[in-house]
Amino acid sequence: MKSFDPTGKGPIGVFDSGYGGLTILEHMLEAMPDNDFIYFGDNARTPYGTRSFQVVYEFTLQCVTRLFEMGCPLVILACNTASAKALRTIQQVDLPKMDPTRRVLGIIRPTVEIIDSLTETRHVGLLATPGTIKSLSYPLEIGKLYPDIKVTGESCPIWVPLVENGLAGSEGTDFFVRQHVERLLTKDPLIDTIILGCTHYPLLIDSIRKFVPERVNILCQGQYVAESLQQYLNRHPEMSARCTTGGTCRFVTTESAQTFLQQASVFLDSTDKLDVSTITFR
Ligand code: DGL
Repeated sequence: MKSFDPTGKGPIGVFDSGYGGLTILEHMLEAMPDNDFIYFGDNARTPYGTRSFQVVYEFTLQCVTRLFEMGCPLVILACNTASAKALRTIQQVDLPKMDPTRRVLGIIRPTVEIIDSLTETRHVGLLATPGTIKSLSYPLEIGKLYPDIKVTGESCPIWVPLVENGLAGSEGTDFFVRQHVERLLTKDPLIDTIILGCTHYPLLIDSIRKFVPERVNILCQGQYVAESLQQYLNRHPEMSARCTTGGTCRFVTTESAQTFLQQASVFLDSTDKLDVSTITFR
């Protein structure tokens, strides 16, 4: 087990299995322009959403460890699948052994907290990867805070590969988006709020809106996760003091830097000056 400097300062790590976490990162950069960030996309091994609990946990731990080695005192799992399947074990089992002063936070809790203010019918829909749906993390977390809310889930195994392959907005994508949205709303027609419980899905928002009635709210997580991170740092000045503030953002990927740049352009306004490097696991 490697040891880390418990007083070390560094950038905030933002992790996703692929490009989806960029939809979270963009809100963090907007809300916290002075902070330093490192975005880590495990693009060579994405998608995680169809993988087993053990594999998602092992991959996520490996990536978090690497972000710690790069100096991050705080890592955000900007991935619902990793938040659902790996966060708890990393927090409870691995962190105490690796470095109890570092923190790893997920994105399910900040999303769940906001749901109360959005739903009137108390019927909420969840679109997510098979892994997130199977984990039952959303219904369990929502049940703890708002036991009167009924959550109905629909797993969308093909949406992440469509996004990762740059097919958002295509006719083929519309077909699969429609299929899952209609299935969800047929399961529970009283749904008035849909959580996009996968960080890739905001990239499909135009297509999703075509098939969701106007009366239904669509919840994208980015803004709420960014706000929750700011609140966390306000409540934890010792952690805030360890997060460096040079206003930089760099990117690491397990794929080639060139592939990352090409694909990331689907997610970001401009990729001209991105600092991207490849990392490998031996
Ligand atoms: N973006 C991830 C999430 O929020 C999942 C992508 C994947 O399946 O790898 O769940």
